[in-house]
Amino acid sequence: MHPSSIVHIFSIVSWCLLLIFQNVRRSNALILPDNVTAPSAVFIFGDSIVDAGNNNHFLTTCRSNFPPYGRIFPGGVATGRFSDGMLPSDFFAQEFGVKTIVPAYLDPSLTIDDMLTGVNFASAFLGFISETSTYKYPALSLDLQLELFREYIIKVKAAVGEQRTSDIISQSVYFLCTGSNDFIMFYDTKKYTNTSAYTDSIVSYASGFLNKLYSMGARTVAVGSAPPSGCLPWPRTERGGFFRTCVQDINQLSIDFNLKLQSMMTALQPQLQGSKLVYLDIYYQLLDVIQNPHEYGFEVSDRGCCGTGLFEEGPLCNIFSMPYSCKNSSAYVFWDGSHPSQATYQICVQRLLNKTKSQFFP
Ligand SMILES: *[C@@H]1O[C@H](CO)[C@@H](O)[C@H](O)[C@H]1NC(C)=O
Ligand SMILES: *[C@@H]1O[C@H](CO)[C@@H](O)[C@H](O)[C@H]1NC(C)=O
Ligand SMILES: *[C@@H]1O[C@H](CO)[C@@H](O)[C@H](O)[C@H]1NC(C)=O
Ligand SMILES: *[C@@H]1O[C@H](CO)[C@@H](O)[C@H](O)[C@H]1NC(C)=O
Repeated sequence: MHPSSIVHIFSIVSWCLLLIFQNVRRSNALILPDNVTAPSAVFIFGDSIVDAGNNNHFLTTCRSNFPPYGRIFPGGVATGRFSDGMLPSDFFAQEFGVKTIVPAYLDPSLTIDDMLTGVNFASAFLGFISETSTYKYPALSLDLQLELFREYIIKVKAAVGEQRTSDIISQSVYFLCTGSNDFIMFYDTKKYTNTSAYTDSIVSYASGFLNKLYSMGARTVAVGSAPPSGCLPWPRTERGGFFRTCVQDINQLSIDFNLKLQSMMTALQPQLQGSKLVYLDIYYQLLDVIQNPHEYGFEVSDRGCCGTGLFEEGPLCNIFSMPYSCKNSSAYVFWDGSHPSQATYQICVQRLLNKTKSQFFP
């Protein structure tokens, strides 16, 4: 090993130790109405925005269980979350007063107590359409995530019985967060020529998923809109030209999809008796943070913190990126080439849930 790399590693180690003690921003859980009890558990489905480390447990290189990922996570652990710290799924659980961290379902150290308050089935590189989930890297497709949920139900029934299990399943909140890969991949595969037909087909996958989840007993389901994926650092670098502007056609696809997603959910809710389907408008919330970073306490919104911030993510955001990474990721809207920082996730989740609270507890 070259002596300078050893020096680098030492400085990295001390720097990480320092960061471990950096405080996570204080969270104020949602104030629930007086006559409402907190949900008993949360269940998470989706892609790398919410994958808590499921991808560590099957063969794929689409992972993030190595430094500098996780550098402000409690204990400084790189759990497989594509973040400097926690994920929207963790803040989702915190806001509902359920727990601080929602663990990956495939984590072998999961206990039955962890399971009773909810688990995370998400998998990085997931898309609504199966071609997306197998395009570059294998991911657990939405159907596979539902299979795992079915397995979860069997295990919990064996541990705490039929009645308690069905209470947990019906009195929990569910969170589905995916879609960006479908829109970033659209231009890679060039297989689809009709954008409107494409967004229609993705919405029908989303609708199929919600129907299946309902039939398994879920009632209150939050669905995140597609984010403004054209404004992520990596697509800006790849297709944003010299000035790295947001890629408008990717954003336009996301906007078209989101409008259709929202009207599908409005139409579906009365058909699924007793359901609450809550649309979370991640698109405009995140876009506002990107366009007005200073209003939210950020300094940089067009580059990630990891490495040069222009493209590094997953295996490319690694210990060799650390000397070039920013010191304070809480001042960055993005942590890596495709993923917001913990600070962004926390702000977005708090604001989105504050706005939609009355839909969860009408
Ligand atoms: C809680 O109270 C509000 C206002 O009084 C009422 O509209 C709502 O139905 C109540 N919710 C429950 C779950 O009892
Ligand atoms: C694209 O698909 C939509 C249906 O989603 C259809 O109405 C429209 O005619 C199609 N356009 C073309 C050019 O094929
Ligand atoms: C990191 O950035 C955040 C947001 O800009 C700021 O509030 C915080 O004080 C900074 N921390 C350090 C150690 O500079
Ligand atoms: C929640 O919404 C209320 C009313 O819209 C607002 O006054 C409050 O500041 C918001 N809280 C957060 C944490 O966004």
